[in-house]
Amino acid sequence: MASITYDKATRQYPGSDKPAVDALELQIPDGEFLVLVGPSGCGKSTSLRMLAGLEDIDGGSIWIGDRDVTQLPPRSRDIAMVFQNYALYPHMTVGQNMGFALKIAGRPASEIKQKVLDAAKLLDIEQYLDRKPKALSGGQRQRVAMGRAIVREPQVFLMDEPLSNLDAKLRVSTRTQIAALQRRLGVTTVYVTHDQVEAMTMGDRVAVLDGGILQQCDTPRALYDRPANAFVAGFIGSPAMNLVTAKLTADGAELGGARIPLDREIVAKADGDTVTLGFRPESLEVTTLADGTLPVKVDLVEELGSDAFVYGKLAETDAEGTKSNIVARVDPRTPPTMGDTLHLRVRPNELHVFSATSGARIS
Ligand SMILES: Nc1ncnc2c1ncn2[C@@H]1O[C@H](COP(=O)(O)OP(=O)(O)OP(=O)(O)O)[C@@H](O)[C@H]1O
Ligand SMILES: [Mg+2]
Repeated sequence: MASITYDKATRQYPGSDKPAVDALELQIPDGEFLVLVGPSGCGKSTSLRMLAGLEDIDGGSIWIGDRDVTQLPPRSRDIAMVFQNYALYPHMTVGQNMGFALKIAGRPASEIKQKVLDAAKLLDIEQYLDRKPKALSGGQRQRVAMGRAIVREPQVFLMDEPLSNLDAKLRVSTRTQIAALQRRLGVTTVYVTHDQVEAMTMGDRVAVLDGGILQQCDTPRALYDRPANAFVAGFIGSPAMNLVTAKLTADGAELGGARIPLDREIVAKADGDTVTLGFRPESLEVTTLADGTLPVKVDLVEELGSDAFVYGKLAETDAEGTKSNIVARVDPRTPPTMGDTLHLRVRPNELHVFSATSGARIS
Protein backbone atom coordinates (compact mmCIF):
# COMPACT_ATOMS: atom_id res chain seq x y z
CA MET A 1 0.00 0.00 0.00
CA ALA A 2 1.16 3.51 -0.68
CA SER A 3 0.42 7.19 -0.90
CA ILE A 4 0.26 8.95 -4.28
CA THR A 5 1.60 12.39 -5.16
CA TYR A 6 0.96 14.37 -8.30
CA ASP A 7 3.59 17.13 -8.20
CA LYS A 8 2.60 19.73 -10.81
CA ALA A 9 2.06 16.88 -13.26
CA THR A 10 1.26 18.12 -16.76
CA ARG A 11 0.21 16.38 -19.96
CA GLN A 12 -0.05 18.25 -23.23
CA TYR A 13 -1.01 16.06 -26.17
CA PRO A 14 1.04 16.60 -29.32
CA GLY A 15 -0.64 19.14 -31.60
CA SER A 16 -2.82 20.54 -28.80
CA ASP A 17 -2.42 24.19 -27.82
CA LYS A 18 -3.23 23.70 -24.16
CA PRO A 19 -2.49 20.96 -21.62
CA ALA A 20 -5.15 18.26 -21.08
CA VAL A 21 -3.92 18.15 -17.46
CA ASP A 22 -2.27 21.33 -16.23
CA ALA A 23 0.16 21.27 -13.28
CA LEU A 24 -1.95 18.87 -11.23
CA GLU A 25 -1.07 18.95 -7.54
CA LEU A 26 -2.67 16.24 -5.42
CA GLN A 27 -1.56 14.28 -2.40
CA ILE A 28 -3.46 11.09 -1.74
CA PRO A 29 -2.66 9.43 1.59
CA ASP A 30 -2.20 5.68 1.95
CA GLY A 31 -5.54 3.85 1.94
CA GLU A 32 -7.64 6.76 0.71
CA PHE A 33 -10.47 6.43 -1.82
CA LEU A 34 -10.05 9.51 -3.99
CA VAL A 35 -12.56 10.31 -6.74
CA LEU A 36 -11.68 12.43 -9.77
CA VAL A 37 -14.80 14.09 -11.13
CA GLY A 38 -15.62 16.70 -13.75
CA PRO A 39 -17.38 17.23 -17.08
CA SER A 40 -16.49 15.29 -20.23
CA GLY A 41 -13.03 16.20 -21.57
CA CYS A 42 -11.79 17.83 -18.34
CA GLY A 43 -8.79 15.50 -18.08
CA LYS A 44 -9.92 12.75 -15.68
CA SER A 45 -8.83 9.76 -17.77
CA THR A 46 -5.61 11.53 -18.74
CA SER A 47 -4.77 12.09 -15.04
CA LEU A 48 -5.41 8.43 -14.30
CA ARG A 49 -3.44 7.21 -17.32
CA MET A 50 -0.50 9.41 -16.31
CA LEU A 51 -0.47 7.66 -12.94
CA ALA A 52 -0.74 4.28 -14.64
CA GLY A 53 2.17 5.05 -16.96
CA LEU A 54 0.01 4.88 -20.08
CA GLU A 55 0.50 8.57 -20.89
CA ASP A 56 3.72 10.60 -21.10
CA ILE A 57 4.24 13.33 -18.52
CA ASP A 58 5.43 16.62 -20.04
CA GLY A 59 6.09 18.47 -16.79
CA GLY A 60 6.26 17.80 -13.05
CA SER A 61 6.37 14.33 -11.53
CA ILE A 62 4.27 11.53 -10.05
CA TRP A 63 5.19 9.55 -6.95
CA ILE A 64 3.84 6.28 -5.56
CA GLY A 65 4.97 6.01 -1.94
CA ASP A 66 8.56 7.26 -1.90
CA ARG A 67 9.25 6.19 -5.50
CA ASP A 68 9.34 8.71 -8.33
CA VAL A 69 7.50 6.71 -11.02
CA THR A 70 7.42 9.47 -13.65
CA GLN A 71 9.72 7.55 -16.00
CA LEU A 72 8.77 4.00 -14.98
CA PRO A 73 6.92 1.70 -17.41
CA PRO A 74 3.39 0.64 -16.35
CA ARG A 75 4.42 -2.88 -15.30
CA SER A 76 6.91 -1.53 -12.76
CA ARG A 77 4.42 0.72 -10.98
CA ASP A 78 2.57 -1.95 -8.96
CA ILE A 79 -0.92 -0.78 -9.86
CA ALA A 80 -4.04 -2.54 -11.13
CA MET A 81 -6.55 -0.80 -13.35
CA VAL A 82 -10.26 -1.44 -13.92
CA PHE A 83 -11.66 0.16 -17.06
CA GLN A 84 -15.14 1.04 -18.28
CA ASN A 85 -15.17 -1.84 -20.78
CA TYR A 86 -13.52 -4.42 -18.60
CA ALA A 87 -12.78 -6.70 -21.58
CA LEU A 88 -12.71 -10.16 -20.04
CA TYR A 89 -11.21 -12.92 -22.22
CA PRO A 90 -14.30 -14.67 -23.64
CA HIS A 91 -12.62 -18.08 -24.11
CA MET A 92 -11.43 -18.27 -20.49
CA THR A 93 -13.50 -19.12 -17.43
CA VAL A 94 -14.04 -16.55 -14.70
CA GLY A 95 -11.35 -18.24 -12.60
CA GLN A 96 -8.85 -18.21 -15.48
CA ASN A 97 -9.63 -14.57 -16.20
CA MET A 98 -9.01 -13.64 -12.59
CA GLY A 99 -5.78 -15.60 -12.31
CA PHE A 100 -4.35 -14.63 -15.70
CA ALA A 101 -1.98 -11.88 -14.50
CA LEU A 102 -0.53 -14.17 -11.84
CA LYS A 103 -0.07 -16.95 -14.41
CA ILE A 104 1.81 -14.58 -16.73
CA ALA A 105 3.94 -13.57 -13.75
CA GLY A 106 4.87 -17.26 -13.34
CA ARG A 107 3.28 -17.81 -9.93
CA PRO A 108 2.71 -21.46 -8.86
CA ALA A 109 -0.71 -22.95 -9.69
CA SER A 110 -1.62 -23.63 -6.04
CA GLU A 111 -1.00 -20.00 -5.08
CA ILE A 112 -3.04 -18.73 -8.04
CA LYS A 113 -5.91 -21.04 -7.12
CA GLN A 114 -5.95 -19.83 -3.52
CA LYS A 115 -5.79 -16.14 -4.40
CA VAL A 116 -8.53 -16.43 -7.01
CA LEU A 117 -10.71 -18.29 -4.52
CA ASP A 118 -10.11 -15.67 -1.81
CA ALA A 119 -10.98 -12.81 -4.16
CA ALA A 120 -14.04 -14.66 -5.49
CA LYS A 121 -15.33 -15.13 -1.94
CA LEU A 122 -14.79 -11.46 -1.21
CA LEU A 123 -16.79 -10.51 -4.31
CA ASP A 124 -19.42 -13.22 -3.89
CA ILE A 125 -18.72 -14.77 -7.31
CA GLU A 126 -17.34 -18.10 -6.04
CA GLN A 127 -20.16 -20.05 -7.68
CA TYR A 128 -19.28 -18.65 -11.14
CA LEU A 129 -15.56 -19.50 -11.24
CA ASP A 130 -16.03 -22.19 -13.91
CA ARG A 131 -18.39 -20.20 -16.10
CA LYS A 132 -17.45 -18.22 -19.19
CA PRO A 133 -18.02 -14.43 -18.98
CA LYS A 134 -20.85 -14.55 -21.54
CA ALA A 135 -22.93 -16.55 -19.05
CA LEU A 136 -22.78 -13.73 -16.48
CA SER A 137 -24.82 -10.58 -15.96
CA GLY A 138 -23.23 -7.15 -16.42
CA GLY A 139 -22.85 -6.65 -12.68
CA GLN A 140 -21.25 -10.08 -12.24
CA ARG A 141 -18.78 -9.38 -15.06
CA GLN A 142 -17.95 -6.10 -13.40
CA ARG A 143 -17.11 -7.99 -10.21
CA VAL A 144 -14.89 -10.40 -12.16
CA ALA A 145 -12.99 -7.39 -13.49
CA MET A 146 -12.58 -6.16 -9.91
CA GLY A 147 -11.44 -9.66 -8.91
CA ARG A 148 -8.80 -9.61 -11.62
CA ALA A 149 -7.39 -6.42 -10.06
CA ILE A 150 -7.64 -7.69 -6.47
CA VAL A 151 -5.71 -10.96 -6.98
CA ARG A 152 -2.67 -8.96 -8.03
CA GLU A 153 -2.55 -7.33 -4.58
CA PRO A 154 -1.32 -4.03 -6.02
CA GLN A 155 -0.29 -0.95 -4.07
CA VAL A 156 -2.85 1.13 -5.94
CA PHE A 157 -6.19 0.54 -7.67
CA LEU A 158 -7.12 2.77 -10.59
CA MET A 159 -10.69 2.72 -11.87
CA ASP A 160 -11.97 4.64 -14.89
CA GLU A 161 -15.79 4.79 -14.94
CA PRO A 162 -16.07 1.06 -14.12
CA LEU A 163 -19.83 1.26 -13.58
CA SER A 164 -20.93 3.12 -16.68
CA ASN A 165 -22.00 -0.05 -18.51
CA LEU A 166 -24.44 -0.99 -15.76
CA ASP A 167 -28.06 0.08 -15.55
CA ALA A 168 -28.99 2.76 -13.02
CA LYS A 169 -30.16 0.41 -10.24
CA LEU A 170 -27.20 -1.95 -10.48
CA ARG A 171 -24.86 1.04 -10.55
CA VAL A 172 -26.17 2.20 -7.20
CA SER A 173 -25.75 -1.19 -5.52
CA THR A 174 -22.36 -1.87 -7.12
CA ARG A 175 -20.95 1.51 -6.09
CA THR A 176 -21.78 0.70 -2.47
CA GLN A 177 -20.07 -2.70 -2.83
CA ILE A 178 -16.93 -1.20 -4.38
CA ALA A 179 -16.66 1.47 -1.69
CA ALA A 180 -17.15 -1.12 1.09
CA LEU A 181 -14.64 -3.49 -0.51
CA GLN A 182 -12.04 -0.75 -0.85
CA ARG A 183 -12.42 0.12 2.83
CA ARG A 184 -11.95 -3.53 3.75
CA LEU A 185 -8.85 -3.98 1.59
CA GLY A 186 -7.45 -0.55 2.46
CA VAL A 187 -5.75 -0.20 -0.93
CA THR A 188 -5.21 3.41 -2.06
CA THR A 189 -7.70 3.96 -4.89
CA VAL A 190 -8.16 6.61 -7.55
CA TYR A 191 -11.62 6.40 -9.11
CA VAL A 192 -12.78 8.39 -12.13
CA THR A 193 -16.39 9.30 -12.80
CA HIS A 194 -18.31 12.14 -14.46
CA ASP A 195 -21.24 11.49 -12.11
CA GLN A 196 -21.14 13.86 -9.15
CA VAL A 197 -23.55 11.71 -7.11
CA GLU A 198 -21.24 8.70 -7.53
CA ALA A 199 -18.29 10.90 -6.55
CA MET A 200 -20.00 12.26 -3.45
CA THR A 201 -21.23 8.87 -2.21
CA MET A 202 -18.00 6.91 -2.81
CA GLY A 203 -15.06 9.18 -2.13
CA ASP A 204 -13.22 9.90 1.11
CA ARG A 205 -12.26 13.01 -0.83
CA VAL A 206 -13.33 14.28 -4.22
CA ALA A 207 -11.10 16.20 -6.65
CA VAL A 208 -13.05 18.37 -9.10
CA LEU A 209 -11.37 19.06 -12.45
CA ASP A 210 -12.39 21.51 -15.15
CA GLY A 211 -10.45 22.26 -18.32
CA GLY A 212 -7.44 20.27 -17.10
CA ILE A 213 -7.18 22.34 -13.93
CA LEU A 214 -7.87 21.12 -10.40
CA GLN A 215 -10.64 23.31 -8.96
CA GLN A 216 -10.90 21.87 -5.46
CA CYS A 217 -10.09 18.68 -3.57
CA ASP A 218 -11.91 18.07 -0.33
CA THR A 219 -14.37 15.85 1.54
CA PRO A 220 -17.85 15.57 -0.03
CA ARG A 221 -19.31 17.60 2.85
CA ALA A 222 -16.78 20.42 2.48
CA LEU A 223 -17.27 20.57 -1.31
CA TYR A 224 -20.99 20.90 -0.79
CA ASP A 225 -20.87 23.41 2.06
CA ARG A 226 -17.93 25.56 0.96
CA PRO A 227 -17.33 25.29 -2.79
CA ALA A 228 -14.11 27.13 -3.68
CA ASN A 229 -15.57 28.71 -6.78
CA ALA A 230 -18.72 29.08 -8.85
CA PHE A 231 -17.79 26.10 -11.07
CA VAL A 232 -17.63 23.66 -8.14
CA ALA A 233 -20.75 25.26 -6.66
CA GLY A 234 -22.70 24.58 -9.84
CA PHE A 235 -21.23 21.13 -10.51
CA ILE A 236 -21.75 19.51 -7.10
CA GLY A 237 -25.37 19.04 -6.02
CA SER A 238 -28.59 18.08 -7.78
CA PRO A 239 -30.64 20.07 -8.64
CA ALA A 240 -27.74 22.48 -9.04
CA MET A 241 -27.11 25.53 -6.86
CA ASN A 242 -28.80 28.71 -8.10
CA LEU A 243 -26.11 31.09 -9.38
CA VAL A 244 -27.22 34.61 -10.25
CA THR A 245 -25.46 37.88 -10.96
CA ALA A 246 -26.41 40.70 -8.60
CA LYS A 247 -25.56 44.38 -8.50
CA LEU A 248 -23.47 45.47 -5.51
CA THR A 249 -24.70 48.27 -3.27
CA ALA A 250 -22.95 49.89 -0.29
CA ASP A 251 -24.11 47.23 2.18
CA GLY A 252 -25.29 44.34 0.08
CA ALA A 253 -26.52 43.26 -3.32
CA GLU A 254 -29.64 43.91 -5.29
CA LEU A 255 -31.33 40.96 -6.92
CA GLY A 256 -34.65 40.91 -8.75
CA GLY A 257 -35.87 43.94 -6.84
CA ALA A 258 -34.83 42.51 -3.47
CA ARG A 259 -32.04 43.84 -1.32
CA ILE A 260 -29.77 41.11 0.02
CA PRO A 261 -27.60 42.27 2.93
CA LEU A 262 -23.91 41.28 2.78
CA ASP A 263 -21.07 41.72 5.26
CA ARG A 264 -18.94 44.78 4.65
CA GLU A 265 -15.78 42.67 4.18
CA ILE A 266 -17.48 40.76 1.39
CA VAL A 267 -18.56 43.94 -0.39
CA ALA A 268 -14.99 45.24 0.02
CA LYS A 269 -13.47 42.04 -1.41
CA ALA A 270 -15.65 42.01 -4.52
CA ASP A 271 -14.01 43.11 -7.76
CA GLY A 272 -16.24 45.23 -10.01
CA ASP A 273 -19.81 46.31 -9.35
CA THR A 274 -21.48 42.89 -9.50
CA VAL A 275 -21.13 39.58 -7.65
CA THR A 276 -22.36 36.05 -8.28
CA LEU A 277 -24.74 34.92 -5.55
CA GLY A 278 -25.21 31.19 -4.97
CA PHE A 279 -27.93 29.46 -2.96
CA ARG A 280 -29.00 25.84 -3.04
CA PRO A 281 -32.62 24.86 -3.74
CA GLU A 282 -32.98 23.73 -0.11
CA SER A 283 -31.61 27.04 1.19
CA LEU A 284 -34.75 28.85 0.05
CA GLU A 285 -37.86 29.12 2.19
CA VAL A 286 -41.29 30.20 1.10
CA THR A 287 -42.47 33.22 3.04
CA THR A 288 -44.63 36.29 2.55
CA LEU A 289 -43.60 39.46 0.76
CA ALA A 290 -41.04 41.27 2.91
CA ASP A 291 -37.74 43.11 2.73
CA GLY A 292 -35.16 40.85 1.08
CA THR A 293 -37.56 38.26 -0.35
CA LEU A 294 -37.24 37.18 -3.97
CA PRO A 295 -40.44 37.14 -6.03
CA VAL A 296 -40.34 34.03 -8.24
CA LYS A 297 -42.93 33.15 -10.87
CA VAL A 298 -43.51 29.37 -10.94
CA ASP A 299 -43.01 27.71 -14.36
CA LEU A 300 -43.02 24.08 -13.28
CA VAL A 301 -43.44 21.97 -10.15
CA GLU A 302 -41.61 18.65 -9.98
CA GLU A 303 -43.10 16.35 -7.35
CA LEU A 304 -40.85 13.48 -6.25
CA GLY A 305 -42.82 12.22 -3.26
CA SER A 306 -40.29 13.01 -0.55
CA ASP A 307 -39.48 16.40 -2.09
CA ALA A 308 -40.97 18.88 -4.49
CA PHE A 309 -38.92 21.28 -6.59
CA VAL A 310 -40.20 24.51 -8.03
CA TYR A 311 -38.64 25.77 -11.26
CA GLY A 312 -39.33 29.43 -11.90
CA LYS A 313 -37.97 32.81 -12.84
CA LEU A 314 -37.19 35.91 -10.85
CA ALA A 315 -40.04 38.37 -11.44
CA GLU A 316 -37.55 41.18 -12.08
CA THR A 317 -34.40 41.28 -14.19
CA ASP A 318 -30.98 40.71 -12.60
CA ALA A 319 -27.74 42.67 -13.12
CA GLU A 320 -27.29 41.06 -16.55
CA GLY A 321 -30.75 42.17 -17.69
CA THR A 322 -32.27 38.69 -17.73
CA LYS A 323 -34.84 37.07 -15.50
CA SER A 324 -32.76 34.36 -13.81
CA ASN A 325 -34.01 30.81 -13.48
CA ILE A 326 -34.49 29.74 -9.87
CA VAL A 327 -34.96 26.26 -8.41
CA ALA A 328 -36.38 25.92 -4.92
CA ARG A 329 -37.22 22.92 -2.77
CA VAL A 330 -40.68 23.28 -1.23
CA ASP A 331 -42.88 21.29 1.11
CA PRO A 332 -44.19 18.35 -1.01
CA ARG A 333 -47.49 18.36 0.89
CA THR A 334 -48.37 21.91 -0.13
CA PRO A 335 -46.80 22.50 -3.55
CA PRO A 336 -47.62 25.73 -5.40
CA THR A 337 -49.21 25.67 -8.84
CA MET A 338 -47.90 26.89 -12.18
CA GLY A 339 -48.21 30.64 -12.59
CA ASP A 340 -48.14 31.38 -8.84
CA THR A 341 -45.68 33.96 -7.56
CA LEU A 342 -43.73 32.80 -4.52
CA HIS A 343 -41.79 35.02 -2.16
CA LEU A 344 -38.59 33.21 -1.30
CA ARG A 345 -36.00 34.01 1.31
CA VAL A 346 -32.43 32.68 1.33
CA ARG A 347 -31.81 31.22 4.79
CA PRO A 348 -29.22 33.21 6.71
CA ASN A 349 -25.70 31.70 6.49
CA GLU A 350 -26.66 29.66 3.43
CA LEU A 351 -25.73 32.31 0.88
CA HIS A 352 -22.50 31.85 -1.12
CA VAL A 353 -20.82 34.83 -2.74
CA PHE A 354 -18.42 34.48 -5.68
CA SER A 355 -16.47 36.99 -7.74
CA ALA A 356 -18.45 37.77 -10.89
CA THR A 357 -15.21 37.93 -12.88
CA SER A 358 -13.00 35.05 -11.62
CA GLY A 359 -15.70 32.93 -9.99
CA ALA A 360 -13.57 32.57 -6.84
CA ARG A 361 -15.34 32.33 -3.51
CA ILE A 362 -15.35 35.57 -1.54
CA SER A 363 -17.72 34.73 1.31
N1 LIG B 1 -4.68 10.73 -27.32
C1 LIG B 1 -5.09 12.00 -27.33
N2 LIG B 1 -4.61 12.89 -28.22
C2 LIG B 1 -5.00 14.18 -28.22
N3 LIG B 1 -5.89 14.69 -27.36
C3 LIG B 1 -6.43 13.87 -26.45
C4 LIG B 1 -6.07 12.47 -26.38
N4 LIG B 1 -6.77 11.90 -25.38
C5 LIG B 1 -7.53 12.88 -24.84
N5 LIG B 1 -7.33 14.06 -25.47
C6 LIG B 1 -7.95 15.35 -25.14
O1 LIG B 1 -7.56 15.71 -23.83
C7 LIG B 1 -8.65 16.23 -23.09
C8 LIG B 1 -8.91 15.41 -21.84
O2 LIG B 1 -9.33 14.12 -22.21
P1 LIG B 1 -9.70 13.00 -21.15
O3 LIG B 1 -9.92 11.73 -21.90
O4 LIG B 1 -8.69 12.98 -20.07
O5 LIG B 1 -11.07 13.56 -20.58
P2 LIG B 1 -12.11 12.90 -19.53
O6 LIG B 1 -12.24 13.88 -18.42
O7 LIG B 1 -11.69 11.52 -19.19
O8 LIG B 1 -13.47 12.91 -20.35
P3 LIG B 1 -14.67 11.81 -20.39
O9 LIG B 1 -15.54 12.08 -19.19
O10 LIG B 1 -15.39 12.17 -21.65
O11 LIG B 1 -14.08 10.45 -20.40
C9 LIG B 1 -9.83 16.28 -24.04
O12 LIG B 1 -9.92 17.57 -24.57
C10 LIG B 1 -9.46 15.26 -25.11
O13 LIG B 1 -10.00 15.63 -26.34
MG1 LIG C 1 -12.51 9.61 -19.54
